[in-house]
This record gives sequence, structure tokens and C-alpha cells, in this order.
Amino acid sequence: MTRYAHITGWGMAVPEAILTNADLEKMVETSDEWITSRTGIRERRIAAKNESTATLAAKAGLRALESTGLLARELDLVIVASASPEHLFPATACLVQDALGATRAGAFDLSAACSGFIYAVQMAAQSIRTGAIDSALVIGAETLSRLVNWEDRETCVLFGDGAGAFVLEARETPGGVLSGVLRSDGSGGSLLTVPAGGSRMPASADTLERNLHTIHMNGREVFRFATRVMATATREVVAGAGLKMDDIELVVPHQANLRIIEAAARGLHLPMERFMVNIERYGNTSSASIPMAVCEAVEQGRVRPGDHLVLVGFGAGLTWGALALQWVETRRPPGVQRSRLTLWTFLAHLRSFALRVWRRLEGLFWGTSSEG
Ligand code: UT7
Repeated sequence: MTRYAHITGWGMAVPEAILTNADLEKMVETSDEWITSRTGIRERRIAAKNESTATLAAKAGLRALESTGLLARELDLVIVASASPEHLFPATACLVQDALGATRAGAFDLSAACSGFIYAVQMAAQSIRTGAIDSALVIGAETLSRLVNWEDRETCVLFGDGAGAFVLEARETPGGVLSGVLRSDGSGGSLLTVPAGGSRMPASADTLERNLHTIHMNGREVFRFATRVMATATREVVAGAGLKMDDIELVVPHQANLRIIEAAARGLHLPMERFMVNIERYGNTSSASIPMAVCEAVEQGRVRPGDHLVLVGFGAGLTWGALALQWVETRRPPGVQRSRLTLWTFLAHLRSFALRVWRRLEGLFWGTSSEG
């Protein structure tokens, strides 16, 4: 039997407190006009005192689990991707495992900054496909507000807090995670870093005074890198799944800057309507941005059974990566018989096939192909 790794549950959690661009105007020398036109961000969420990366992660994880009917104690693995983990150790994933009661799951953190969620889903999917595990809870969670220098206007306007989660499960139905691309270039490590607090530069009065425990970024260089890799990684992952760009109904990019997303759309010759964007309400939530955007896309009816999606991200490391998915409704809502579910899955595949044929014909006759 061929095993496929399907996304059977999803959930997100954000703090209640909203920090608007107008609020930031009172904190640093900036303006709503600058932030909106240069980044697309209008507001972001900021964690309350009693919230942290682990509490947001557990909340998102619980919502994702609740949407599947799978019990926490049935989970085989919990992975938390984060650039702002609860501690150096223990892993945030272990705190989440305990909070949820995932008593037989292994748990570990994955450090690939804003690309972390892509990396973690690919790791979980591969473990499911090999038969090593049957299910995994993968979470991207951040409280970057705790790592921001609130006097540095070049970074403090960008980041926000939040968490998003997927439950992945083994299924026999084709679909789910179809292919993945993971890449890195450590030579660019200094472009985006929190220099102090690790073994290289342990915490000291001097590092505190020099603000070295906060985010330091060369924004222009990161921008250049991001626009270079987004389109390439998307093309690679689509080809790896045996698909064409025309087959992709929705691209869910890391939400770092609207201009980066627009540049990727131009590079791929795709209209912006095929990109999920919610940066205006959350800012850059690093590893959480992609699963949060997927949750909202599903909520808005932009993802339907049978659709092909690309999730694509980049970040500190430097790291970047992409996943191609086929979204197949494999959940079994209460009372729905297996035969009805199978029929539903069959219809979803049929719809997807018909759409692909239609797009090819459209391209052939009217030359409207958006092939990248
Ligand atoms: O998740 C991955 C992590 N990070 C990123 O993806 C960030 C990637 N980079 C970016 O998104 C953009 O480079 C930024 C949004 C960070 C900056 O936008 P930019 O268009 O590249 O601006 P810039 O750095 O070239 O700066 C232009 C001007 C500068 O002033 P001068 O030197 O031209 O007088 C900055 O000092 O804008 C100034 N500036 C600001 N002005 C008002 C920088 N930050 C601000 C601010 N408010 N918040």
C-alpha cells in the first residue's frame, strides 16, 4: 500500500491585543503611510504578559486536533517550528506535548526561522510516508514581540505574534503533501540574526546594554534574497510534484512584505488573485505566517477539496523552501459513512482533473496560459 501524508486538521491562535501603525507612530519615527506602502502591514497582534510561544502553539495545536477528531494521545509526533522558542531548552514542543496530553508522542523544536513550518511539514510528511509514524502535529508559533528592539524602526514595525498548526495523518487516498524543496545558504547568516543569548555570545550586562538580544536585520539584502528564491522554489516544487504552474489554484507565501509577494507573482507570471495575503492584519509572524494564512484561506472558501497549493517561505539562516500539496478532504465528519466520503474524494479528484484540462485548453486556444 502507498502511504500519503494528508493535512487532516488545521487551526490558528493569535493574541487579542492589536498594535496599529498609528500606535507605532507614537513609539518611533515612522508613519502609517511608510509602513503600509513599503510592507502592506496595517496592524499586528502582540502577546499579553501571560501568553508565550508555547501557549499560542498549544492553542493552535488544540484547534487543529479538534478539527480532526484525532485524540492528542493518539499522536506520534509533535514538532514546533519557531524563531522565538520558549527557552533554549527544553523544547517548546515538549511543553506543548505535555499541555495537550500527547502522551505517546515524540516532540522536538525545529529551527529554520521563517521557513521553519515548511521544513517541519516536510519532515513529518516524510516520516508518515515511510511508515515510521502515522500522525503528527506540526506547529509554527512565535512571540517575536519579545525579541524586537522597540526603538529600532527598521524592524519593530514588521513583526507580530501568532501560531498556526496542521495535523498530518497517513491515508491511502492519493494527495496531501506531494513534494518539498528545502534549501539553505549559511553564508548569509549575519543578514538576519539575534546575536546574543546563545553559546557564541552568552547573556551579559554588556550584551544587554548593546541590545544584542534583539533582532538585527539588513532589510534590503533580505528583500533581495527573498525575491530571488520565492519564484525559483515555487517552480521547483511544482515540477517535483509532476504539475504545471497552471495546475496551482493557490500559492500561500510567507507573509513578510507585500512587495516581496508581488515580486514573486510577477516572476511566476501569476495574477495576485492566486496568492493568499493576510499580512495587513498580522505583520510578519515568521514560522506561523504560512499555516495562519492557510487557515484563513480555508475559512474564506479559497481552498476546496482537490485544489493544488504551493506553500513557500524564506527566512534567517538563510533558509527557504516550498511544499506542493493537494488538498483532499479526508476528515470523516460525524455520521458520514465511509462510502459517502470515498464518493466525495472521487468527485474532488474529478473536479481537479476537469479544471486542469480546462486551463490547458484555455492556454492552447486563447493563449491565456499563466505558465511560469
Ligand atoms: O521574514 C523574513 C524577515 N524579513 C524580511 O523579509 C524583510 C525584508 N525586507 C523588507 O521587507 C524591506 O527591506 C523593509 C521593509 C525592511 C525596508 O523597506 P525598504 O524599501 O527596503 O527600505 P530601506 O531599508 O531601503 O529604507 C528606505 C528609507 C531609509 O531612509 P533613507 O536612508 O532613505 O533616508 C530608512 O531609514 O526608509 C527609512 N525607514 C523608515 N522610515 C519610516 C526604514 N524603516 C522605516 C520606518 N519608518 N519604519
